[in-house]
Amino acid sequence: MHQVALKRTLTALAFTSPSAAYGGVRPGFAVSSVTAGTKYSRSRNRLFSSSSFNAPEPPQSKGFNVYNDIDFSVSTGQSSQSSIRNSDPDAVFVINGASRGIGLQFLRKLLKDTKGNIVACCRSPDDAIGLQELLLSLEGSKSRDRIDLIKLDIENQDSIEQAVLEIERKYNRVDLLLNVAGILGDGKNTPGPERSLLKIEKGWLEKSFQVNVIGPLMLSKELAPLMTQKRRTTKKKASNKDNEELIVEKKRPVAIIANLSARVGSISDNFLGGWYSYRMSKAALNQATRTLANELKRESVWCVALHPGTTDTDLSAPFQKNVQEGRLFPVEFTVDSLMKVIDSMEEENTGGLYDWAGKAIPF
Ligand SMILES: NC(=O)c1ccc[n+]([C@@H]2O[C@H](COP(=O)([O-])OP(=O)(O)OC[C@H]3O[C@@H](n4cnc5c(N)ncnc54)[C@H](OP(=O)(O)O)[C@@H]3O)[C@@H](O)[C@H]2O)c1
Repeated sequence: MHQVALKRTLTALAFTSPSAAYGGVRPGFAVSSVTAGTKYSRSRNRLFSSSSFNAPEPPQSKGFNVYNDIDFSVSTGQSSQSSIRNSDPDAVFVINGASRGIGLQFLRKLLKDTKGNIVACCRSPDDAIGLQELLLSLEGSKSRDRIDLIKLDIENQDSIEQAVLEIERKYNRVDLLLNVAGILGDGKNTPGPERSLLKIEKGWLEKSFQVNVIGPLMLSKELAPLMTQKRRTTKKKASNKDNEELIVEKKRPVAIIANLSARVGSISDNFLGGWYSYRMSKAALNQATRTLANELKRESVWCVALHPGTTDTDLSAPFQKNVQEGRLFPVEFTVDSLMKVIDSMEEENTGGLYDWAGKAIPF
C-alpha cells in the first residue's frame, strides 16, 4: 500500500470514536490488516468492507439495579455470619487506611463491637496523629492488645506484600478486609477533582487509580488466600467434663471484602460530569468488586462496594460549603451505618454497590 494512503487511513482512524476506531474488535480476534479504501476491515483473519459487515445485536444492557437492597430484618440472630465473626476472639479484621477519617472510626467501631484482632494499616504510623492518640488512650488496656499497627502504602506493591507477609505470619487468617484508603484531592493543591477535561493531569489520574482501585485490588489478591474456605476450619484442643482431650473444630463464617467507593462512581447516575479521576477510579473499583465477588463466592468470601454518604472528614472538607443543611454525616453515623450494611449482607448482596442505608445503587 502507498505510504500516503496508509497515513490518511490511520489519521482517519485516530479521529473516530474509540469504539469505532477499534472496530468492535474483541480480545482474541486478530487484526489482519488495514487497507486504504476498506475501512475497519478486521475480523477473524478475514477482510470485508464496512458496507458488507452485518453487525450483531449488542447484548442487552443491565445497567440498572441488578441487586436487591440489603434486608436488615434477616441475619441479626446469634447464628448469623456476622455474629459469629464479631464474637470470635480469633477473628482478624484488617483496615487499609486506619490513620484518620472513616478508617480510624472503623477501628473504634471494631474495638467496641467485636472481639477479634484488628490490624490497623496506614502508610505513616508515626504521623497518624488521630490513630496515635487513640492508641495512647488505650495504653495498658486489653483493647490495646487487640490492635496491631502495620505500615502499608497502598501505592507500593512491595509495601502491600510486606504487610501481607506480616499478617500471614502473625494470624494466618483474615475475616474482614476494609479497603478504606482513598483520594479525591481539593482542586487547589492537587489537580483533582477535575472540573473539566482540560484539568486532567496524567499523574493525578494514575495516582487516583493506584490508591482507589489498583492498591485495594492487589491487597485483596494477596490476602484472599487467608480468607478462603480451605483455611477456615480451625482445630483446637479442649477437654470434656471427664478431662478427656478433644479436638474441637470451629467453622469460620464467610469472610468479607468491603471497598469504600462513592455514588459518583456510578455511571448510570452521572448526569453532572467532572471529577474524572475520582469517578473513573471508583467505577473501576465497583467493577473490581463485582468481578471479585463472582470469583470468591465459591470460596465463601463476599465482596461489597460501599457509598458512605458525604461524611465530615478531611476528604470532604474542601466541598462542605456546598452540602445542604443536615446532609453532612458525622463519621460515627457513617461507620455505624456501613457496619450495619456489612453485618447484614447475605450471599445475594455480594458484588453490589450499596449506600450507607443499604440501598442498592445502580452501576
Ligand atoms: N468523606 C466522604 O464524604 C466520602 C464520600 C464518598 C466516599 N468516600 C470514600 O471513603 C473512603 C475514606 O474517606 P475519608 O473521608 O475517610 O478520607 P480521609 O479522611 O481523607 O482519609 C483518607 C485515608 O486514605 C489514606 N491514604 C491515602 N493515600 C494512601 C496511600 N498511598 N497509602 C495508604 N493510605 C492512603 C489516608 O492516609 P494518610 O493519613 O497517610 O494520608 C487516610 O487514612 C475513601 O475511599 C473515600 O473515597 C468518602
